Amino acid sequence: MAKLYPDSKVEISGFLARHYEFLLNLVTARRYRGFISRVIRDMEIAPDDRVLDLGAGSGYNAKFMTEYLDHSGMILGLDVGEEAIEQFREKFPGSDNVRIERRRVDRELPYESEFDKVFTSFVFHGLPHDSRLKLLENARRSLKDEGRFYILDYGDFELSEMPFFIREPFKLLECKYAFDYLKRDWYSILGEEGFDVVDSKRYYRNFARLLVAEKAEP
Ligand SMILES: C[S@@+](CC[C@H](N)C(=O)[O-])C[C@H]1O[C@@H](n2cnc3c(N)ncnc32)[C@H](O)[C@@H]1O
Repeated sequence: MAKLYPDSKVEISGFLARHYEFLLNLVTARRYRGFISRVIRDMEIAPDDRVLDLGAGSGYNAKFMTEYLDHSGMILGLDVGEEAIEQFREKFPGSDNVRIERRRVDRELPYESEFDKVFTSFVFHGLPHDSRLKLLENARRSLKDEGRFYILDYGDFELSEMPFFIREPFKLLECKYAFDYLKRDWYSILGEEGFDVVDSKRYYRNFARLLVAEKAEP
């Protein structure tokens, strides 16, 4: 599938995609594993949950989720990256309960009220705003009425107030959409798009945040 937004840094491929997990653990001095393990614990996954993971990547997060699921639960990952899809399938060979499909999460998805949880991790910030709104619409429609939507991404920090060892790499490595993401009030936007934010967990002094939202009454 062609890359739709050349300026985005989340449509990853090649070397970066093949070694994504290793590189993340390297740049975070091996903290990444512990961080994701805490985030997935904070999602309070029930054994029979049906989870939709938007931009699932290599299945790194899904692997942690499976620790909370039994045979009645399932994970469906969606991604566009060839390398990501291949690595995801290698992690769960022949599994009916943990699968990945190639789909854009910013195009209309075919799911209606099917999932208990929808999760997206470090995808949201890298999309143009209209595409984020489409992702929100997809998440809302895919969720069951009491379902929960989880956005794991950067926290609501002022870049200028961050220490230089965060600020400078961010400025160097991040795309224009990430700067736009930081400026927006996600509580209000989620409200406008039919969600109630019910919780927010912060990690590494608010560098990362897990927003937890429920489908609002129509
Ligand atoms: C930064 S990686 C994060 C992967 C994974 N969520 C994680 O936290 O490890 C972003 C992922 O989103 C996928 N992606 C980016 N834009 C997408 C889109 N529009 N539709 C589906 N997947 C997308 C990329 O292929 C990549 O695997």
